[in-house]
Amino acid sequence: MRELKVLAVVVFFSLLTYYLVEPYAHHEMHKKVDAEGNEIKIESRGFAYDGSGDIEQAERKGDTALVAKKKTFWADVKKISALKGNMTAGEAGFAMCMGCHMDGAANMGGVVPPSLEHAGTLYEKNYLIALVKDPAMASNVDHKYADTMMHPMGSVSSMFTDDQSIADVVAYLMAKKAGEVTPKEAFAEACTRCHAMRYANITQLGDTPKFKHEKDALAHKIKVLEEQDAVKAYMGKLPPDLSMIIRARGEHFMETFIENPQTQLPGTSMPRVGLSHEGYEKVKEYLTEIGDPSKKHREALGPWVLFYFFIFTVLAFLWKKAMWKGLH
Ligand code: HEC
Ligand code: HEC
Repeated sequence: MRELKVLAVVVFFSLLTYYLVEPYAHHEMHKKVDAEGNEIKIESRGFAYDGSGDIEQAERKGDTALVAKKKTFWADVKKISALKGNMTAGEAGFAMCMGCHMDGAANMGGVVPPSLEHAGTLYEKNYLIALVKDPAMASNVDHKYADTMMHPMGSVSSMFTDDQSIADVVAYLMAKKAGEVTPKEAFAEACTRCHAMRYANITQLGDTPKFKHEKDALAHKIKVLEEQDAVKAYMGKLPPDLSMIIRARGEHFMETFIENPQTQLPGTSMPRVGLSHEGYEKVKEYLTEIGDPSKKHREALGPWVLFYFFIFTVLAFLWKKAMWKGLH
């Protein structure tokens, strides 16, 4: 039974490498530390937004005024979250959102305001409350906005000044779940205003239409370049094309980055998007569909390959036994 022992040893070391050595090496090589050299643990918060990560981040900076400001802000969000929203009042309030978020809206301070068609599904409730209260604080990019500069959605806070009006409009959004959202719609509404997806012919202006005349295609291309210039001016750099990102970044990175980009890229200009768990799953599905279309097929094939190896091992073993029998 020497063969079985050898097999057991090989299996043991493979599993050891896979489950212990590799994750440990990964962890050591991607360690994040604060100014004093203490390790920062980046954990997924299950797509719930209560500001705890933002507050910890401010504490790490040692900025007590900022800590107090964040604590007050997120405590207010929690208070509003407990209010019962009035759907009719919310619908009237929503008309004010649509003043900026209407179909075919033009660039506004750097990006085209996204469609809110599936906002109640894509975004988490407390995040939406925070966003209407103060967009820069909600998306954790308040450090970018001094008193003189305003977030492009900033004026919303002057339209919804009392807590009840915020609770109303968010209740309306949460109730208005316009059917099932497709992975593509999720990506279009949550990411496309900043990120292109070359493999799917998506630019910051959405789907690229098919043009009959080259002149029209070129005219569209100029519009895209102008849009990209605006996004670049707003973000400080052109956000990367996301066609292949799902292959480059692991699950843990993607989840924690989407929940709070500052955790993985401190100081980044990408705002928090505030996706709900469901919204994230849809976006991920689309990124996988475009960037790694053979994944499903590969995963389906896996068990069969293992089965094949198993049968093959048994046969090889029996064959060897048969061959050696006559020699003893
Ligand atoms: C003054 C114009 C304006 C108004 C009014 C406005 N928005 Fe926005 N909104 C924007 C712009 C511009 C963006 C894109 C900001 C960005 O990407 O940095 C945006 C982004 C968003 C997003 C995506 C943000 C994210 O972080 O993912 C949501 C959701 C949203 N708005 C909801 C609302 C709701 C709900 C209302 C009404 C209560 C509203 N907006 C009112 C301009 C506006
Ligand atoms: C308002 C603009 C904006 C929106 C909306 C936005 N992003 Fe970004 N994103 C950026 C910018 C800017 C960067 C570059 C960040 C940097 O390098 O600091 C970035 C970078 C990234 C990266 C690369 C991080 C890395 O490893 O370097 C990923 C992944 C990403 N975004 C995913 C998304 C997804 C998914 C969505 C939609 C759910 C989204 N982003 C929405 C602006 C945006």
